[in-house]
Amino acid sequence: MRDTNPIQLIGTSGLMVEMKAEIQRVARSDAKVLITGESGVGKEVVARAINDASTRAQAAFVPVNCAGIPETLLESELFGHVKGSFTGAYRDKPGKLEMADNGTIFLDEIGEMTMRMQGLLLRFLETGEIQKVGAERMGRATNVRVIAATNKNLRDLIVLGQFREDLFYRLNVIHLIVPPLRERREDIPPLIEHFVRRYTSGQDGNGNGNGNGGNGGPGNPGNNPSRYIARQLAPEAVMALTAYGWPGNVRELENVIERLIVTGRREVIEVGDLGPELRAPGASLRPRKERRKTIADELYKKLLDERQCFWATVYPLYMNREITRGNVRDLVHKGLEEARGNYKIVLKLFNMDSRDYKRFLNFLRKHDCQLPFKEYRQ
Ligand SMILES: Nc1ncnc2c1ncn2[C@@H]1O[C@H](COP(=O)(O)OP(=O)(O)OP(=O)(O)O)[C@@H](O)[C@H]1O
Ligand SMILES: [Mg+2]
Repeated sequence: MRDTNPIQLIGTSGLMVEMKAEIQRVARSDAKVLITGESGVGKEVVARAINDASTRAQAAFVPVNCAGIPETLLESELFGHVKGSFTGAYRDKPGKLEMADNGTIFLDEIGEMTMRMQGLLLRFLETGEIQKVGAERMGRATNVRVIAATNKNLRDLIVLGQFREDLFYRLNVIHLIVPPLRERREDIPPLIEHFVRRYTSGQDGNGNGNGNGGNGGPGNPGNNPSRYIARQLAPEAVMALTAYGWPGNVRELENVIERLIVTGRREVIEVGDLGPELRAPGASLRPRKERRKTIADELYKKLLDERQCFWATVYPLYMNREITRGNVRDLVHKGLEEARGNYKIVLKLFNMDSRDYKRFLNFLRKHDCQLPFKEYRQ
């Protein structure tokens, strides 16, 4: 079960030094940890580092990705199943929670769990007991440390009714935020060095030394450490990469280094080899409005797809300050786009009575959410 590759958390920036100290502190307890941060920042690396620094280091670290697999499969994956509980269940199978006994389970992308799975997880967190799929009774109690991660804002999901508040408080005992790479650029050169060493020494990070997937390596298959021509990056190339925005964070950096090493035709990779997008500093900085947009998108969906009424859905959230004026403005913007600037149609889209026209416009005016319709008339 034990991973043979000890995890290395590269980074010398103030933020990373602080994070490493926090990891050591957190590792001394068994408290649940919630790790948040953008995609590719290293949430799983941090989770592993906590496990490795803890007294559970010799037991299993079991990662489970809660996204992208159907609910029933996830249930059996986490809790296990008994023989005959569904077609194809030929024998009893232990779940990941059982496999993580005395160790750590890492629940990745927890924000993607369905409400029902959230309920099952909550029950487990309350009792520590596992009920396998198809089992009549609860099984024995386990001793598992739970670390969860997400790149979503769970508080937003709670507001939208997609994440259980009680589960959130259970998981959020210790909250670690892994900052995006662009906020700790000092870490970029050591990370580059780390990945260059990895790819020039024939280790691809999966431990199989065979990770170029046919994407242009100089046809020398096998585990030969010197199969690539490129060995290092010129200082100007490192500088250019340090200035880049890295919207995909460390994972994107790792992929770029792999590509450069695998496809490089000279020993030293120069700035000219980087490609136009990597040479334009800040070109890919992530728009700050992104989170705000998601809320408006979700609300819009509720109104249009689920045919909920603006007064029942959006109005109370705004009045209780659970969503902002910006969210309402974004929502109105989307409505006006669809209605080509006609507020009466927006009224209909948002499932309000035609007699509410004045009330709606008064509300928007009063809260500075009325957008000029003319811009949408095209
Ligand atoms: N500080 C670091 N030192 C060394 N490698 C790192 C570091 N941070 C991230 N990585 C590497 O970057 C890749 C992405 O990291 P990880 O999978 O932990 O990110 P994540 O935040 O879980 O991403 P996602 O949200 O997409 O699941 C991995 O290959 C990991 O090994
Ligand atoms: Mg992850």
